[in-house]
Amino acid sequence: MPPAQNYGELVQIVYISRSLVRGTTAEVAAELADILAVSRQHNLREDITGALFFNGRGFAQTLEGAPLAIADCYARILRDKRHEDVRLIQHEYIGARGFAGWAMAYFADVGGAGFTLSPNFLHEIIARNADAAPVLELMRHLMRGA
Ligand SMILES: Cc1cc2nc3c(=O)[nH]c(=O)nc-3n(C[C@H](O)[C@H](O)[C@H](O)COP(=O)(O)O)c2cc1C
Repeated sequence: MPPAQNYGELVQIVYISRSLVRGTTAEVAAELADILAVSRQHNLREDITGALFFNGRGFAQTLEGAPLAIADCYARILRDKRHEDVRLIQHEYIGARGFAGWAMAYFADVGGAGFTLSPNFLHEIIARNADAAPVLELMRHLMRGA
């Protein structure tokens, strides 16, 4: 049996940012697919889990994992020219992952622009993440601003 997760070994961050991804619907979808592919590959390797929300204008992302892995990942995300105005809105130590099993869950709502949104997605996140409230709150915030 794996050892119990000790409090302090896991950190969860949440940030929001403004998208600089431009182009046709297909170009935007391709760029997002690229972000997700690289993210999932890297996150699997680094044992990072989380969720990414995109509404066509802004991103909201939550990342959880070992503090050093998260710091390194966030530093790369900060340097990424595909978004700007990156604001960290939560950084806290957690006892257990809220998104265990998700190398990067993806939630998109870009006004029917070609993304598939599972109707159960939010319910799945709520079921998996006891701390979904802040993520959902910022998702609502981004939706209002769109
Ligand atoms: C909105 C957004 C979310 C991202 N999320 C992740 C992520 O969860 N994990 C990750 O490794 N890279 C993520 N990236 C990509 C990184 O910014 C970076 O491009 C990638 O890690 C490759 O970095 P490298 O070229 O230095 O290897 C994200 C980029 C954007 C724009």
